[in-house]
Amino acid sequence: MTETQRDVVDLLSADHRDFDRIFRELEQLRGRADDGSLRRKRELVDDVTIGLVKHSVAEETQVYPRVEKQVDEEAEHNKEEHAEAEETMKRLERLDPDDPEFDGAVEELIREIRQHVAHEESRMFIELRATFSHDELVEMAEKVESVKKIAPTRPHPMTPSEAGVRLAVGPVASLLDHLRDAVSGRGKHSD
Ligand SMILES: [Fe+2]
Repeated sequence: MTETQRDVVDLLSADHRDFDRIFRELEQLRGRADDGSLRRKRELVDDVTIGLVKHSVAEETQVYPRVEKQVDEEAEHNKEEHAEAEETMKRLERLDPDDPEFDGAVEELIREIRQHVAHEESRMFIELRATFSHDELVEMAEKVESVKKIAPTRPHPMTPSEAGVRLAVGPVASLLDHLRDAVSGRGKHSD
């Protein structure tokens, strides 16, 4: 047994737990409008956005295509859930934490991701373990990790020189594009 090697289900589940820790802190901050709380809300939303973008691009490129062969509509459904959450994240990046809509948008993101997590954990993860060997799942985990490493670790990674073009679509959108391009080989990144 290679118990020390995390398989892809362990890895993605750990991400889900990380998101939920952030969500619980955001829920405690809901309705608070002092400076410290507002700053913390912005920080938490930026952190979870980065985490979610990396997680969803890694899943879409390294996991869903493998699952797709088994259960077509499963991967399709999960991608739709990602797309909805991406829209909410794009909305959040344009809102200040003291905007009356901010807490509501956070609430919506939390609801979308929790629903997505429950769906994946109750179906896709079980199918993954039923379909692939431990070694295959460990290999998938390594691929997911390598995609996550391509992503910048800051939520607003643009330098002023590239900002001109990219600000039109916003940091979340450009982060998604950057990652998807890198993975699909349109960037310089290799396997
Ligand atoms: Fe996930």
